[in-house]
Amino acid sequence: MTQHAAMPMVVDTDVGTDDAVALVLALRDPGAEVVAVTAVAGNTTLPNVIQNALYTIELCGARVPVHAGSSRPLLRQLATAAEVHGGDGLGDIGLPLHGRSPAATPAVEALIQAAREHAGRLVLVTLAPLTNIALACLADPQFASNVGRCVVMGGTGRGPGNVTPVAEFNIWVDPEAAAIVFESGLPLTMVGWDACEADATFSEAELDELRATDTALARFCVDIQRVSRDRARAAGRREGICIPDPLAMAVALDPTLIAEARRLPVAIETRGSLTSGQTVVDHLGVTGATPNAEVVFRADRGRFMAMVQRALA
Ligand code: RIB
Ligand code: CA
Repeated sequence: MTQHAAMPMVVDTDVGTDDAVALVLALRDPGAEVVAVTAVAGNTTLPNVIQNALYTIELCGARVPVHAGSSRPLLRQLATAAEVHGGDGLGDIGLPLHGRSPAATPAVEALIQAAREHAGRLVLVTLAPLTNIALACLADPQFASNVGRCVVMGGTGRGPGNVTPVAEFNIWVDPEAAAIVFESGLPLTMVGWDACEADATFSEAELDELRATDTALARFCVDIQRVSRDRARAAGRREGICIPDPLAMAVALDPTLIAEARRLPVAIETRGSLTSGQTVVDHLGVTGATPNAEVVFRADRGRFMAMVQRALA
């Protein structure tokens, strides 16, 4: 049986509680070699993101450099999401999230270097506002063409946003960066909030079942969801909580998990007073724009859940 070389991967992240689960999926997958993690502010501040990423990598027994990126969007003020991820970004459960050191190379340089070194093969997974990625596109005209695949957790393929009626957090935090990325020529696969709500919503029973695996990773990945779970219970949401980033990661690790997707033109609204951060998807082709992203609408939920269970076992 031919052994396929592990796919070289860079994960751009604002480690928060769902990013951490996505990192575990990648670090525990023998088919992937995470060559670098790049940190960007989003769910929480950049210093927290760096410590959270290093802690998660250490918990997986892995050694992967974490590179510090942008502490704020290109033009706008940073908006974080403590109401979802807690003040520390990992559920405020008292984890020892201090004293770990990032790599000396800045994130944008690390992104450009990795894309050059693994030209045509690099799988770039973005789980955060696209500030670092936009800066890499601007700094190196070859960056977009060096990347093999770019899987973005962000936007909405159809349906409402999660921070405004039309915008999803990763795009909404830095719409200018997202516009640069979606116009860059990167080979984009977009896994939007709608796809994640449909196939990455975990019920209370499913979370409890994962926790009952009782490994350190299972306890970690479930316990850090504390703030989200409390918030869902308080709001009477009985369906459970959406944990989006692992679904984008799963699609990156195994594209056969995609159940429904179309190549479509996607533009980013950067000026609307009501619509800033919207991913404007041209479903009917009325703009005449060239399709620039594979927009994922549905995934194989059963196989996704099985992938998560295997990673945490
Ligand atoms: O809208 C959900 C996305 O925004 C996820 O990546 C979450 O971690 C936050 O970054
Ligand atoms: Ca994220």
